[in-house]
Amino acid sequence: MGRRNPPAAALRKPLRFVVTAGPTREHIDPVRFISNPSTGKMGFAVAAAAAAAGHETALVAGPCALKTPRGVERIDVVSARDMQKAVKSLEGPDAILVATAAVADWRPAKRAAKKLRKSEIGGVIRLARNPDVLKSAKFPLKVGFAAQTHDVVAEAVRKCREKRLAFVVANDVTEKGCGFGTDTNRVTIVRADGSAKSLPMASKAAVARRIVRECENLRA
Ligand code: CTP
Repeated sequence: MGRRNPPAAALRKPLRFVVTAGPTREHIDPVRFISNPSTGKMGFAVAAAAAAAGHETALVAGPCALKTPRGVERIDVVSARDMQKAVKSLEGPDAILVATAAVADWRPAKRAAKKLRKSEIGGVIRLARNPDVLKSAKFPLKVGFAAQTHDVVAEAVRKCREKRLAFVVANDVTEKGCGFGTDTNRVTIVRADGSAKSLPMASKAAVARRIVRECENLRA
């Protein structure tokens, strides 16, 4: 009798994944911040899928109330600048960056050390631009996410080109079952040449496994 073929996972080379997830918080003072409704579900699912496939996986997470997936090294951060620092410390010639985080693009220009009285805020908060974590990171393979409300593919192509990404996972957050806090997603994988592959509605876990497989195929 011939030997049984080894399972597909055993044939794949272990890779190193770095995943960003969740929102960032940009503090005005110790008790107030600017943020967004991201829960981190998609990023935690990507990290879980990468670790389950046998890859070394680091998860750089903004404030999220989710359990760390098995086999994942988690680094908790608060602001976009914290996230950028953590991601930079994980750069390497062999790593893959999958950026699912909803990074706040702006932060208050000044963060007060003590709680401000409402009269001290005065109705106007000056903002400063945050760094782009994904664009500034040096990884040989980078994957972005784009949660859009319109022009989904065109916007994803623009981001893919501007940030030099292997592909962008785009979705329309106005669609039922997609977007912040859902357990499902319907995504389109968009590349810089304008090609777009639409996937059916699926659990975030299934979408995550697909993204990990796409990365494995690009590194094969
Ligand atoms: N991203 C990031 N750092 C930022 C902004 C975005 O790492 N400061 C990453 C996100 O994690 C995502 C991708 O870039 O993978 C696209 O994010 P998105 O918010 O859709 O796009 P922006 O680059 O902010 O573009 P725009 O505001 O022009 O839509």
